[in-house]
Amino acid sequence: MKNTVLTFRRAKEEGVKLSMLTAYDYTTAKLVDEAGINAILVGDSLGMTMLGYEDTLSVTLEDMIHHSKAVSRGAKNTLIVCDLPFMTYNTGVRDAVINAGRLMSEGRANAVKLEGGAEVAEEIRAIVNAGIPVCAHIGLTPQAINALGGFRVQGKDIEGAKKLVEDAKAVEAAGAFAVVLECVPGRLAEEITKMLKIPTIGIGAGNKCDGQVLVYQDMLGMYTEFKAKFVKHFANIGEDMIKAFREYDKEIKEGIFPDKEHTFAIDESIVEQIEY
Ligand code: KIV
Ligand code: NA
Repeated sequence: MKNTVLTFRRAKEEGVKLSMLTAYDYTTAKLVDEAGINAILVGDSLGMTMLGYEDTLSVTLEDMIHHSKAVSRGAKNTLIVCDLPFMTYNTGVRDAVINAGRLMSEGRANAVKLEGGAEVAEEIRAIVNAGIPVCAHIGLTPQAINALGGFRVQGKDIEGAKKLVEDAKAVEAAGAFAVVLECVPGRLAEEITKMLKIPTIGIGAGNKCDGQVLVYQDMLGMYTEFKAKFVKHFANIGEDMIKAFREYDKEIKEGIFPDKEHTFAIDESIVEQIEY
């Protein structure tokens, strides 16, 4: 059955946990969908995981539309949430609504996500008023990396914790259907989760959130250089890929691949009748 914003609302009411994973292409979306995950996030993390940028700031609306379209062809039952990239909603409600609309009409997303709390409440409200569900994202907001001074846990001191609570209230009041809590102490995420009527989706926010989200390359172990504290490797696909690529290289060089079973046959008499 297709997951919708109603699925999210009911899950919170019934205490059923929600699962979300990133995907950026057709093949991955299809696999995530097949696994029964509730939602796919076409995250602007694709700037890092798919395009090799060191942060998310260079990702464009066109990039997001391109990847969201591909995901939409693979995801049957998962709710598709697509990120509004840096500077596509911070320049006023009109830009926010137009750009969110493009992620829906061109990207075929089911909802959009944007970063920030009270300071983007007006944008959230305007997008929701246009009939577009909005997922908020507070705590560590990677698009604000230069303002935050690095990728680090948020809301650890009184001031930070108060701000996080105010932001959570503000995005709910603005009409967001869910809120991502990124890199927030577990106990604070727990209290925010109890306080809100909308579901909280945690990443590095402990297990008391209403749901969880991870970047799929992180949870599949496709990165070996760096592992954030909140990442768990559910598989070691990176290792498996390197192993398979090495084997392929070896078999080519040793003349093992392709074998007869991978080769198209022809009647030998035809081959012999032709002048070369
Ligand atoms: O872009 C992304 O993948 C995200 C998640 C980390 C929440 O925003
Ligand atoms: Na993101």
